[in-house]
This record gives sequence, C-alpha cells and structure tokens, in this order.
Amino acid sequence: MGDKTYNEVSEYYGKTLQGSEDLKTNACCTDTDLPEYVKTNLSNIHDEVLARYYGCGLVAPQVLKGARILDLGSGSGRDVYALAQEVGEHGSVVGVDMTDEQLEVANRHIEYHRDKFGYAKANTEFHKGYIEKLDELDLELESFNVVISNCVINLSPDKEAVLKQVWNLLKPGGEMYFSDVYSDRRVPVGLIKDPVLYGECLSGALYWNDFLTLAKDAGFTDPRLVEDRPLTIDNATIEARVAPIKFYSATYRLFKIDNLDRSCEDYGQAVIYKGSVPQHSEKFVLDAHHHIEKGRAFPVCRNTYRMLSESRLAEHFEFVGNGEHHVGIFPGCGEIMPFSALKSDSATSDSASCC
Ligand SMILES: C[S@@+](CC[C@H](N)C(=O)[O-])C[C@H]1O[C@@H](n2cnc3c(N)ncnc32)[C@H](O)[C@@H]1O
Repeated sequence: MGDKTYNEVSEYYGKTLQGSEDLKTNACCTDTDLPEYVKTNLSNIHDEVLARYYGCGLVAPQVLKGARILDLGSGSGRDVYALAQEVGEHGSVVGVDMTDEQLEVANRHIEYHRDKFGYAKANTEFHKGYIEKLDELDLELESFNVVISNCVINLSPDKEAVLKQVWNLLKPGGEMYFSDVYSDRRVPVGLIKDPVLYGECLSGALYWNDFLTLAKDAGFTDPRLVEDRPLTIDNATIEARVAPIKFYSATYRLFKIDNLDRSCEDYGQAVIYKGSVPQHSEKFVLDAHHHIEKGRAFPVCRNTYRMLSESRLAEHFEFVGNGEHHVGIFPGCGEIMPFSALKSDSATSDSASCC
C-alpha cells in the first residue's frame, strides 16, 4: 500500500490542489480562534505560502525561544515560518515533505522570510523525504526539542513507523505537538482505498483508541489531548459516503519521558505557575485538563509533574513534593479503583468472610 499511497497523496497535494479553496471538504481547514500573537506571526507570512495551507488545527506549543523544531509534512511551510518567529534567530525549524510542488513553494520563500523577520541568517530549511523514513535524512538523533505536524499523519500508510521515528529524533524531555484527524471507529478498507477521501484527510484517519495504543507502543506512555473539535464535512456527497463515521480534529502532545506511569498516579505533588511564559501570563495550558492558573498551587499526578519538571517548561514552574509517597490513583483522572470500599469499621461478623 505504501508506494501507491505516496503517489496518490503526492499527486493530490502537488497537482490536484492548487490552494485551500480546491479542497472538497473542510476537514483540512483550521477554524480555531487564533491568539493575537499567532495572527501577528501569520501576517508576516507570504501570501503564496498561506494560500497552500491545508492544516487542521493550531500547532502553537509554548516556550520555543532557541528551540530546534521539526515539522512533519510541512507543505508550503506555513507552520515552519510561523514558528521560525517564535524560536528566534538562534533557534531553527526544519520541514520535511515528500511532494516537490509543496517543497518548491516553501523553499522559494526562505529568503523572503529571513528578510521579513530581520534575521542575518535564515533559520528554516526544508528536506524532501518520507516521514516514515526520517532516518534516511541527515537529521541527528535526539536533536529536536519539539516535533510538530499539521494534518499529515492521517495520510501516512505507516503511522506506527512515524511515531517511532519521532521518538528517536526527540531530545529526552522533548515533545511531539501536533494536530490531526481522528475517527470515532475504524474506517473500512473500501473507504481507505478511495484517493479523494484519503487525500481530503478523512479515510486515512486513525480511530482515536488505535492512535492511543500506537502512541503508547512507540514510547509515549501518556498522550495528552490539548483540544479537539468535530469536523463538519460540509459536502453532502462525501458526508453520505463516510456516514455514520464521525471525524474529529484533535491536537495532542506526546512527551518523550522514560518510565512515565501508565495511569495518573498521585504522589501528593503540586506545581505553581510563575506566569513567566510570554503571551501566557495568566495561565498555562498544558492540555485540556490542565489549565494552570498563575500563582496558585495546582495538584498534579506524577506524570504531569514530570512533564513540567523534565522538559523545557521547568523554569516556569515551582514544584512541590518530592514524589516519595504514593497515595493512590489521581482523583478524576479517568480511572477509579475498581474494588468496592470496605464497609469500614462498621463491618460486622455477618459480613466477614474467610476468603
Ligand atoms: C494536508 S497537507 C498539510 C500540509 C501542511 N502541514 C499544512 O498545514 O499546510 C499534507 C502534506 O503532507 C505531505 N505528506 C503526506 N504524506 C507524507 C509522507 N508520508 N511523507 C512526507 N510528506 C507527506 C503532503 O505532501 C502534503 O504536503
């Protein structure tokens, strides 16, 4: 399936589509309310790059100054050029894509953006390659702080390989922060084989629970959902073809941290956000369940504590608790103790049992 899929997807993004308006559905379109600083970054990007944007979510991880970022399926380069402004002149953003036409647009505007951002040297580069075979490119292992991607992994014929490659390229404590399309059930093979449904970022979508399993198998033990929205396909013919499957755009962050707990375990720990991340002075959003208000002790499970203390985010938090005393599963974290409680001290000999 690999080569056929590559050829069809490349044909779709290189020749069939000339711009966002050629898409047949709104699956590959972002409708998130954009923060002001993101709007400013986008206003500095060349129109031709923006016109060929096919992403499905907002890929804007915090704390990027000086970071080295890799964008999988970078297309015409919109997210590369947006984040090139966040990492600054001493950071860098590398894009990888397999489609010549997309790479041509991205490469042609490197100098334009260097000049626009006022940098002495360009901090962006683009490589031709497959995101399942990043090891064939000249990319140093464990050299990236962040790997991003926007509406691409659904198009990959080998999603497991992509996640494994990402694990190898991330620095310890680094993270993959990416938006993609997911389905509420496994998509039937007949739909996966349809090049338009596949190219439109629908039928290649992973069933969300299969994605979680793949991510965990690749080493990302505790995937964190940042935000999600249902996709309204807005095309009656295509909607009828895929019904009753529902599709969602979702942004996940996957931290490369060894030996995270498989569930959220409570060690009585907390974090206090210092309010020091630019553009996020009042609260820090780690994920959909962790909107951490500035200056207020925020109880966390050990995994969250480690994601914040063992990553580039650490300097923006104070950490409370040494993690030596386990007190059970973290309350409200999706899992509860499956055993019924003892009828406490009031248990009588009637209820007692010998086994
Ligand atoms: C939906 S577009 C998204 C492009 C870009 N991320 C954006 O937001 O505009 C998908 C892009 O991923 C690229 N792509 C798809 N599958 C790929 C693969 N297996 N390896 C490398 N690039 C791939 C396509 O060439 C295309 O440019």
